[in-house]
Amino acid sequence: MKPVAPGGSAEPGAAGAAAAERRGRHERLGTGRSEGPLKVALLGCGVVGSQVVRLMHEQADDLAARIGAPLELAGVAVRRLGRKRDSDVDPALLTTDAEGLVTRDDVDIVIEVIGGIEPARSLILAAMAGGKSVVTANKALLAQDGAVIHGAAKEHGADLYYEASVAGAIPLLRPLRESLAGDRVHRVLGIVNGTTNYILDKMDTSGASFVDALDEAQSLGYAEADPTADVEGFDAAAKAAILAGLAFHTRVTAADVHREGITEITATDVASAKAMGYVIKLLAICARSDGGGSVGVRVHPAMIPRSHPLAGVREAYNAVFVEAESGGQLMFYGKGAGGAPTASAVLGDLVAVARNRLAGTHGPQESTYADLRVHPMGETVTRYHVSLDVADKPGVLARVADMFAKQDVSIQTVRQEGHGDEAQLVLVTHRAADSALSATIEGLRELDIVRDVPSVMRVEGEDNH
Ligand code: HSE
Repeated sequence: MKPVAPGGSAEPGAAGAAAAERRGRHERLGTGRSEGPLKVALLGCGVVGSQVVRLMHEQADDLAARIGAPLELAGVAVRRLGRKRDSDVDPALLTTDAEGLVTRDDVDIVIEVIGGIEPARSLILAAMAGGKSVVTANKALLAQDGAVIHGAAKEHGADLYYEASVAGAIPLLRPLRESLAGDRVHRVLGIVNGTTNYILDKMDTSGASFVDALDEAQSLGYAEADPTADVEGFDAAAKAAILAGLAFHTRVTAADVHREGITEITATDVASAKAMGYVIKLLAICARSDGGGSVGVRVHPAMIPRSHPLAGVREAYNAVFVEAESGGQLMFYGKGAGGAPTASAVLGDLVAVARNRLAGTHGPQESTYADLRVHPMGETVTRYHVSLDVADKPGVLARVADMFAKQDVSIQTVRQEGHGDEAQLVLVTHRAADSALSATIEGLRELDIVRDVPSVMRVEGEDNH
């Protein structure tokens, strides 16, 4: 690793001189004298960026007192200059030259709230190469290219903070990275997407179909015009990868995450869950295997008992349940999206990196020493709720039960409702491997007595069976 003083780099010539000057300024600041502001470049001035500008402005005095030096907004990179924006940002600070801004010699800290892979990735890398501290809310980038981004932070001795990338305002990454650094996390189970939670909550409370609940979420501004990233689970999968990496000290990418969305959930599924005392939630689950030698990371709809703390998470709220060996069960709850809540997390990171710069120190680097295997979904062990449309005649239940037995999947409960010569069987299993359950369903579909398998859903939050 190249040793780099805070704010400095080993650049030759004029750039080197400027870096030395910047170092000098910070070294003076490091002595406790509040000389000169720390300069902040903001990339993006949308929903989150405009709230970052507002909070930096409104809380300037408090922030300066908490940090030990004032912050100064050096520039705000935007895509288009002329656009009307919901922010009191000084128009003189706006620029379309994001690269020029992040490589400016007087900039100490870069906040990236553009989102997406490019140009965010190149801009963050350029900022770090110049020794700047980076605060980002970019889950997609960290989940896809975390190795490159963390590698650059390490190489250049740059701070990288990203609390806002998962669950908005909820302090979650710092607790995992710092507060629980002395514990052993077994499982992280959470609702990390507000849009889908809103939709599923609406379906649960009103009996609405997925399409009607999505329509309502869109008209209220909870869901985007193109809701794919939320309803297909991509957003939650990126967050799950970040959470798993921190919880298990292992590099996990979005590609490692098993992902299923909520578009296939029907009003009948929701009603069936309700009848059995469950509620359906889109969960991000990061868990050690039973032996602890590998981890599974998955995002999918699941039934949880109505008595589970996550069942009470309504509307667009997020909540994450962490199970740690010594700490026991912990729950983090709050607003997982929106301009001000996300900006709150960004500002917390901004204060942290600013304090680090003044102290001439750095925050923790990525920890991947455990390097656990990320196991495929087939090795995941959980419980299942299976609905079957079957012929209602002697021997049907026995043949269905036999198919489960063949795959070593143990049935916990069976409920039957009849409609003429057809019946619906609803089975809940004990814990079984996902591959065994899939093989069971495949076998059931081939039986002449099984007319349809309308629903197969995992059951979480009850580990004592
Ligand atoms: N679209 C996300 C959600 C927020 O609905 O929770 C940003 O990750």
